[in-house]
Amino acid sequence: MKIAILGLGTVGSGVMNLLTQNREIIEERTNQTFEVSHVYGRSNRYQIDLTNIVHTDNIEDIIQSDVDIVIEVLGGIDFTYQTIKKLLLAGKHVVTANKDMLAIHVEELSRIANENQVQFNYEASVAGGIPVILGLQHGLNANRIHRFMGILNGTTNYILTRMTQDDWDFNQALEQAQQLGYAESDPTNDIGGFDAQRKTAILSRLAYRQEIDLEEVSVKGIEELQLKDIQIAQQLGYTMKLIGLSEMQDNRIEMLVGPMLIPSDSQLASVNEAMNAVFFNGDAIGETMCYGPGAGSMETASAIVADMMGIMNFGFIGNTETKESALTTSETFPRKYYVRLLATTEIKQMVENNQYDIVYSKDNDIAIQTPIMSLSELLDSVSTESIQALYPIID
Ligand SMILES: NC(=O)c1ccc[n+]([C@@H]2O[C@H](COP(=O)([O-])OP(=O)(O)OC[C@H]3O[C@@H](n4cnc5c(N)ncnc54)[C@H](OP(=O)(O)O)[C@@H]3O)[C@@H](O)[C@H]2O)c1
Repeated sequence: MKIAILGLGTVGSGVMNLLTQNREIIEERTNQTFEVSHVYGRSNRYQIDLTNIVHTDNIEDIIQSDVDIVIEVLGGIDFTYQTIKKLLLAGKHVVTANKDMLAIHVEELSRIANENQVQFNYEASVAGGIPVILGLQHGLNANRIHRFMGILNGTTNYILTRMTQDDWDFNQALEQAQQLGYAESDPTNDIGGFDAQRKTAILSRLAYRQEIDLEEVSVKGIEELQLKDIQIAQQLGYTMKLIGLSEMQDNRIEMLVGPMLIPSDSQLASVNEAMNAVFFNGDAIGETMCYGPGAGSMETASAIVADMMGIMNFGFIGNTETKESALTTSETFPRKYYVRLLATTEIKQMVENNQYDIVYSKDNDIAIQTPIMSLSELLDSVSTESIQALYPIID
């Protein structure tokens, strides 16, 4: 089999290294030999040995080549979307790690791949090395999935771990994450929750086999999260995590990403540093959790090469297509909330009138834990200007 790799950055170099390191078992387990015949890219930052490989900066050289499988690890949206579309139409199998592009175009590209009888695999796009996509498509296929909760972004999980365990403030933790290479110089996608939003959309689509509009995944980042809220949560027995939560109730779906309070003795609360985990609930399995590295050169390559080996073993097996969503996907289900308010006389009176459980009171702050209620009911009962922090509690 002839393989082409688009992009020789962090992940592309990891793929090249893994293909070299584990060539023997890859060929043994697929009963085939393979050759990386083409590489597309502007640079070769990690100085990968490209002897006997065509290294081109013209994408047409790949589209018109005789390669069988193309591995896309460029990143970006528009150019990669257009390129993958052309590759699928040209009859190439494609493997990608590109969640930014998939969150918008996965439906169309899966359909084009099926029409052209080629495989389109994207295991590495969510939770890096953890096999959650294959888990949903195969291992949990016999289940009606009605909920999943994931720690899907290693950068924010690292920052929250430092804030929780070492009492660092947000800026100090972000700076350290950047120094360690977890956070990019522009960290907006991670700390704004957008990376986790895209992954929540990709997983929700597979969990419910419904078309998902990315915009319907509500998103809140961790930029405004204060150390004192993490500490109050801890005193209440909760740990603050950036969670991608997706839930289906009676044909209605709620998808939200943001900081949430989860019980400190839960398995997800023990997922620390830059690790990822996803907790699924299905009607047959009950609960199951996958845990592991969400990023990294070889960790991500592990998923990509496995996708490639799947194609070498089985060729075209069909790509998951979904139904146009017949479901309501912009729900806000009732739940408990943690709210910190500006402690004016009026607010204190309101808290008393509503018999909310006061969990903290100091200087100008008063924090409450609500019973299960709808968000609109909560917002009607407090003046929105007085809200300093508001996070769901997921028991
Ligand atoms: N890093 C991870 O741990 C991880 C984990 C899971 C998924 N992913 C996904 O994997 C993909 C690659 O990530 P990465 O971390 O490897 O990124 P990266 O280190 O920035 O590598 C991307 C490579 O592609 C090249 N490139 C990008 N656009 C190009 C274009 N239009 N034409 C030619 N070359 C182009 C870049 O060249 P230059 O160096 O010249 O810019 C660079 O060599 C992304 O979709 C990312 O979301 C990454």
